[in-house]
Amino acid sequence: MRAYEIISADGIDALALNERPEPVPGPHEILVAVRASSINYRDLSTIEDPKPRGIVYPRIPNSDAAGEVVAAGSAVTRFKPGDRVAGCFFQRWSDGGIDAAAMASALGGALDGVLAEQVLLREDGAVAIPGHLSFEEAATLPCAALTAWNCLLEQGGLKPGMTVLLLGTGGASIFGLQLAKMAGARVIITSSSDAKLERARGLGADETINYRATPEWQARVVELTGGRGVDVTLETGGAGTLEKSIEATRVGGTICLIGVLTGGTINPVGVMRKSIRLQGVYVGNRRMFEDMNAALAANRVHPVVDRVFEFDDARAAYHAMRAAGHFGKLVIRI
Ligand SMILES: NC(=O)c1ccc[n+]([C@@H]2O[C@H](COP(=O)([O-])OP(=O)(O)OC[C@H]3O[C@@H](n4cnc5c(N)ncnc54)[C@H](OP(=O)(O)O)[C@@H]3O)[C@@H](O)[C@H]2O)c1
Repeated sequence: MRAYEIISADGIDALALNERPEPVPGPHEILVAVRASSINYRDLSTIEDPKPRGIVYPRIPNSDAAGEVVAAGSAVTRFKPGDRVAGCFFQRWSDGGIDAAAMASALGGALDGVLAEQVLLREDGAVAIPGHLSFEEAATLPCAALTAWNCLLEQGGLKPGMTVLLLGTGGASIFGLQLAKMAGARVIITSSSDAKLERARGLGADETINYRATPEWQARVVELTGGRGVDVTLETGGAGTLEKSIEATRVGGTICLIGVLTGGTINPVGVMRKSIRLQGVYVGNRRMFEDMNAALAANRVHPVVDRVFEFDDARAAYHAMRAAGHFGKLVIRI
């Protein structure tokens, strides 16, 4: 079977497409014929800058896959051949809080990833995919969607009528928009592009702000919330946007810090002054993934797939992410 491999720190074009032996499932593993893999900013960073992440060569990139079970180990009870599944970002985090063992089980990081024709998954590291989704759609769920779900529904305790702030229109933010609208919340979203903001309105965004045209976007967020600030912020920007996000979030509100898109330094005083709950979030566990899938199925929500690339052209997907022209998710069909 063929798999892409990170074999150096030379970036996207140095990704190698190599033959590997067909994997054989152990007693508690399933063999999955991968039909689609979506890419996340984290996968791009891993390919472009593998050394600080401790990547061992050769390493298969990508955390997100959807496919069909083709073989199951002798002790497997959760799945059978023919089942449609998605892998869990963390192979060892079924429920409860995250721990070091879970952290050491990330696909496309500590472990080989899924940009391959076949992958082995732990049976407790996979979920059934909602029946209304194609493989390309389901492949977008394991990282971006689950992170947004964990931030908004679990950490943020989102309820109807609450207000959410989303930064940019990448994969994680657009899932944040879809999940927040599903939960009956009001959404304020920023982007560098008016055309993307228009698309966000089409998905239900209540208020839009161009962060290039309005560099002090946090002041506009405060204005749009009657001086109060938002209840929950999905912080995809990182150090370069966090101080503004603190200003944009209400006293006692929640900021889920997930992103590393922008550099800078942070003055943490506002976190204390406003009694803000600043929570680092790293994707989510399998129980959350199953809850989210149930909600997506009940509400017939379809992920926003911007473009689908063919397996042989996978490198182009990472170049597209680097160009940042996309809205929602970029997917590779396998
Ligand atoms: N911790 C976790 O578990 C977790 C999970 C998923 C993602 N993340 C992180 O979240 C971030 C987004 O990931 P992604 O996969 O959604 O990436 P993506 O699809 O590549 O999204 C990137 C988008 O972010 C927006 N952006 C860039 N700079 C910005 C800025 N200064 N202010 C506001 N928006 C800005 C841009 O939107 P516009 O084009 O609209 O301007 C850009 O298109 C990354 O840092 C990623 O590592 C973390």
